[in-house]
Amino acid sequence: MENIINYKKGQLILLDQRNLPYKITYKKLLTAKAAAAAIGDMVVRGAPAIGITAAYAYLLGSREKDFKNYKTLENYMKNVSEKLLASRPTAVNLKWAVDLMEKTLRADPELLVDKIRDNLFEKAESIKYSEIEANKKIGQYGSSELKKVFGEDGNLKILTHCNAGALATGGWGTALGVIRSGFKDGLIDEVYVDETRPRMQGARLTCFELKEENIPYTLITDGMPAHFMSLGNIDAVIVGADRIALNGDTANKIGTSMVAIAANYYNVPFYVAAPVSTFDFNCPGRKDIAIEERSHEEVLFINKKQISPEETRTVNPAFDITQKGLIKGYITEKGVIRNTDELQ
Ligand code: MRU
Repeated sequence: MENIINYKKGQLILLDQRNLPYKITYKKLLTAKAAAAAIGDMVVRGAPAIGITAAYAYLLGSREKDFKNYKTLENYMKNVSEKLLASRPTAVNLKWAVDLMEKTLRADPELLVDKIRDNLFEKAESIKYSEIEANKKIGQYGSSELKKVFGEDGNLKILTHCNAGALATGGWGTALGVIRSGFKDGLIDEVYVDETRPRMQGARLTCFELKEENIPYTLITDGMPAHFMSLGNIDAVIVGADRIALNGDTANKIGTSMVAIAANYYNVPFYVAAPVSTFDFNCPGRKDIAIEERSHEEVLFINKKQISPEETRTVNPAFDITQKGLIKGYITEKGVIRNTDELQ
């Protein structure tokens, strides 16, 4: 899948994921503020994709005014960083990308503003393409792990939650990258997809991607994974991540921890697939991960129709934390690791 996040001649063009799978539409963004709003509104979503978008958004910010020198540019960009960092709090890839862009900006204050902008463009491009390359390696390492654990016979049935595919990463995918590679290698023959309430990333986006790839899939509701595990229908679970703390606790889409607990109960291996950019070594554990709270409307309405009586109270945390002890391994571009210190 191509053209998910594209930068051309001062415009950031995003595939609008809110309209999938019904319509393929694109949103053109000209300012960092508009890009931050697009991240918040989930035009683009998925931790690595948010990071890549933030990098290009930072570049947009640097082009918004006719800055006379480095100092005026640097001053302006503080505000741009703040806006971007506030757009979605849980995925650490956002901060990771903004940090890299800030470092590029500050690398040499003697440079002309135009040269700094060129460097920012190069950096944003390298963030995008290195993340896609990392995904491909994750796919290969993940497929080898499946071969090691289950043998070469194939017929594996894998469950995934939310969408950790090309759409979530700018290309290829983490959890879906492993599924893609495992399918190509003849190991996987079916994917169970959790619908992923309330935004339906599983039903709308993961099914869309699997269909495009001709990978057989079955959509299930979020309450069904334990049932299918109890029947022996699921061989392994592979999910993505928004932030992995130093102790291995992992934030991912709400509902993930319920799947992990069920998987452990039924002895189904539970894997997290994520690039190194998703590991937050400054975050000790689950208590230090900010969980985004989204609007009540996402829970209360389906297709613009309210599903509960007036004045129904609700809460809407977008992510939950799966504790390290429930995770068999982290599939990264550096290999499959059991503890985060293997990356440091
Ligand atoms: O709210 P979203 O759609 O941005 O949440 C996405 C997820 O939770 C993904 O599983 C995660 O970002 C990993 S994407 C490779």
